Amino acid sequence: MAQYRLSETEYQRILDFKRNMHMHPELSYREVRTTGKIKAFLESIPSCRILPLPVETGVVARIEGSGDGPEIMLRADIDALPQTEETEDPWKSLTPGVMHACGHDFHTAALLGAALILDRAKSQGELPGCVDLVFQPAEEVTTGASTLIRAGLFDRIHPDYCFGLHNWPSVKSGQVVCREGALMAAKRNFEIRILGAGGHGSMPHLNIDPIVCAAAIVQSLQTVVSRNTDPRDAVVLSINMLSGGSPDNLVVDQVAMRGTIRSLSDEALDRTIDRTEVITEKTAQAYECRSEILWEDRVPAVCNTAEMTRLAKECAKLTDCVLADASPSLASEDFALYRSYVPSFFYWVGSSAEDDPGVEELHRCRFHTDDRALAAAAELFAASAIRPCI
Ligand code: NI
Repeated sequence: MAQYRLSETEYQRILDFKRNMHMHPELSYREVRTTGKIKAFLESIPSCRILPLPVETGVVARIEGSGDGPEIMLRADIDALPQTEETEDPWKSLTPGVMHACGHDFHTAALLGAALILDRAKSQGELPGCVDLVFQPAEEVTTGASTLIRAGLFDRIHPDYCFGLHNWPSVKSGQVVCREGALMAAKRNFEIRILGAGGHGSMPHLNIDPIVCAAAIVQSLQTVVSRNTDPRDAVVLSINMLSGGSPDNLVVDQVAMRGTIRSLSDEALDRTIDRTEVITEKTAQAYECRSEILWEDRVPAVCNTAEMTRLAKECAKLTDCVLADASPSLASEDFALYRSYVPSFFYWVGSSAEDDPGVEELHRCRFHTDDRALAAAAELFAASAIRPCI
């Protein structure tokens, strides 16, 4: 399938795009420049048509094939993270405090590379199906997929299959992970507010201290994983922020804490949510406080079905990628939301060089990708659009 490889010129073009995007990272829902650049690139591809969708950032485009084959959706994410890059790369971020530390620039460039390959396939009459290229905003805050869906994505496109990928630094370049079952975690973030009654620090008997209550809740929540979870299930419950306080002569009225619950099993996530609610409410009562929990939208687990895994492995065979295995991750991905609309598959594409001295994981300030993996990712996206048509 040599015709489905990126040419050297095409590779150079997407590499330039990726490095330019890396230098100009934009946070979730602020990907205005990025959106413009993606549109300009797609407009230069003869068979590519941008579809109207009422969103500020993000792009959906279509390459219409020449037959009545299946409709395939390919998804990349486009946003960056609020952290400062500490690499010495010449294409290092020019925006202090913002960085492509998850490689969404890599995913975007790979999908643009796939568009180049698919445009060639179409001009040679070898694309019987239709391909929807979805450049999704705001994955880092895990609400971009639902934003596109609410804006009418699946009124505009009606895919038979959907494929997405993430670069994976702990896997070497040239390898791809096609894992059946749960791959990435279901997630629910929350904020807990403990409401007491403040007063003079010297008169604790006249006050209701929310700080002591919050400390008890943090401790008690630790027992949910150790005592309420099947030890064979992976569950994380972390309180990552505690906020509240005053000068030392004042007991405050209120304390807030924020946390996250992750699990590879939707049932275990449900159980952890229930226990968090009960422990919070009852502990607050025991300390004469009141409590409120504000739950964010739930993100389901990324889960690859047996049927989609079989198809994905067939797609990967059209490329030079070697199949590799990796353990599931407790990170979350809002790609998971698409599977309620369309059979979906999520790949991990190896992105660290053979000679890299150490792996810089996602979301680290020295994170980088081996750009030799970029061609593999583009070809994998293209193969995923072509293989279901064969
Ligand atoms: Ni990511």
